[in-house]
Amino acid sequence: MKEQLTSILEKTLNDIKAAESFEALDSIRVNVLGKKGELTAILKQMGKLDPEMRPVIGALANEVRQTLETALEEAKAVMTEKATTAKLVREAIDVTMPGTAPVIGKKHPTSIVLDEICDIFTGIGFTIADGPEVELDYYNFEALNIPKGHPARDEQDTFYISDNIVLRTQTSPMQIRTMENKKPPIRILAPGRVFRSDALDATHSPVFHQIEGLVVAKGITMGDLKGTLELFAKRLYDEDTKVRFRPHHFPFTEPSAEMDVQCFKCGGKGCSLCKGEGYIEILGCGMVHPKVLEVCGIDPDEYTGFAFGMGLERLVMRKYKIDDIRLLSENDVRFLNQF
Ligand code: DAH
Repeated sequence: MKEQLTSILEKTLNDIKAAESFEALDSIRVNVLGKKGELTAILKQMGKLDPEMRPVIGALANEVRQTLETALEEAKAVMTEKATTAKLVREAIDVTMPGTAPVIGKKHPTSIVLDEICDIFTGIGFTIADGPEVELDYYNFEALNIPKGHPARDEQDTFYISDNIVLRTQTSPMQIRTMENKKPPIRILAPGRVFRSDALDATHSPVFHQIEGLVVAKGITMGDLKGTLELFAKRLYDEDTKVRFRPHHFPFTEPSAEMDVQCFKCGGKGCSLCKGEGYIEILGCGMVHPKVLEVCGIDPDEYTGFAFGMGLERLVMRKYKIDDIRLLSENDVRFLNQF
């Protein structure tokens, strides 16, 4: 029985050495030390031994069991260590390898100029107002003193959703919406998209942006209008910028004017950019028409106001010398990356 034990020990130790996987080690353990294992089978025959031999064989069997258990544990530990090392090598990351830089987006040129203009006006006390792009005919035309059949309607080729609903052709309806909801003093700037059924070409787009301004309070005069808009032009371009006001007509203002800035290309001498004028028109403006104040429930004998409106894309195109409006909506990154 001693010999049997010794041979089991030797054979099993060899098997353990040769084992290449956790599964192999486990099956060795089951085959030798398990309930139906070789060693267990021997121990079951102990009863047949002489009583004085039992403790000797028992001790030896225990020794063999322990030796094998230790050997199995060690083999397992070595295998675990090897597996971990292999995993680390396999998954090693070379932190010195050059990375892929994330592409950083940029502000659209239209947004750059819009933000600049909003900053100028919020800096002198205006708040930004926002309103619907799908608008009632009442706000887009009627309340602005442009009744049905008025020639001003023909100048703004309108997308009609239904008889009395349009895509707003201008941001001026925000004047009415503001005055209906707020009591003077009012000082708002309302930028937004507007729509006209124009064919798309280098200088026209059916979708573009306007920025509307409105000031209503007691004692507002044409002097406030001129001072505010001149300050705006100087902040947008530079301190030496010269402006001029030309009489004009808008149904919702009286008197009305257009403001020009001195041509920055020729400095006023006249060139191809300003078509020999020396000045370039940048906005429409005027004193809010008493009728417009009245439909909003504001007493024109008590309050006066001025309003102005400008096309954003034209300002952007001029600032960055862009000669085709389509570039602003095509979103070609090669174009956008330049700003
Ligand atoms: N809404 C006008 C347009 O689209 C621009 C404009 C002119 C707005 C004069 C105004 C204004 O508020 O006072 O042509």
